[in-house]
Amino acid sequence: MARKFFVGGNWKCNGTTEEVKKIITTLNEAEVPSEDVVEVVVSPPFVFLTFVKSLLRSDFHVAAQNCWVRKGGAFTGEISAEMLVNLSIPWVIIGHSERRALLNESNEFVGDKVAYALSQGLKVIACIGETLEERESGSTMAVVAAQTKAIAGKVTNWDNVVLAYEPVWAIGTGKVATPAQAQEVHCELRKWLHENVGGDIAASTRIIYGGSVNGANCKELAAQPDVDGFLVGGASLKPEFVDIIKAAM
Ligand code: G3P
Repeated sequence: MARKFFVGGNWKCNGTTEEVKKIITTLNEAEVPSEDVVEVVVSPPFVFLTFVKSLLRSDFHVAAQNCWVRKGGAFTGEISAEMLVNLSIPWVIIGHSERRALLNESNEFVGDKVAYALSQGLKVIACIGETLEERESGSTMAVVAAQTKAIAGKVTNWDNVVLAYEPVWAIGTGKVATPAQAQEVHCELRKWLHENVGGDIAASTRIIYGGSVNGANCKELAAQPDVDGFLVGGASLKPEFVDIIKAAM
């Protein structure tokens, strides 16, 4: 089954109004494959979401970097799924390793966030990934399977889910997973989906890779049969993000 290539740009906690304008100008001027070939979603910090949406070309889309686990209310500092829907923000990243580590977001909490975001009509980039210690101890698949299980148990509509495998040891380090390392985990994740969710969903769900992706390494990674795209951090703030989008060709 053909899976549309997906390239997400996670800007994380970065940007000024001027910097955002420069990034959007670069993206709007880029000659890239059509939306039928590659789905592009950029994820600015909350404060720039509507600004980016107002300037961004119509064939690219925006994602929030997080949302709250239930209906809004007395949750100071949180952003609700309802607010994102109200602003016509279609995507949200959930379960990023930086939030799992820094804010102690558990597998169960991430699963509940995925469930609530989907229930409100949002599309979800659901993040999983092991630490260096977990990889070196040989527990990579046990860890990512447990993370995936907590998410899968709450997914009501897989059409609105993209699974992002982001080995923590590759995020922000320049130590990108080798194509073989990425393919191995993506293949195992697709097998897990096949065995635990179903064959059609396993075949159709995009599994994307994140962790030090750049213009130089994206082509070889994209050539792997179970790598369906990328979730890009640092390089999504640079013109080379356009090269990564073109890796879909
Ligand atoms: O969400 C994507 C991010 O975690 C990857 O970051 O800077 O290693 O591309 P980076």
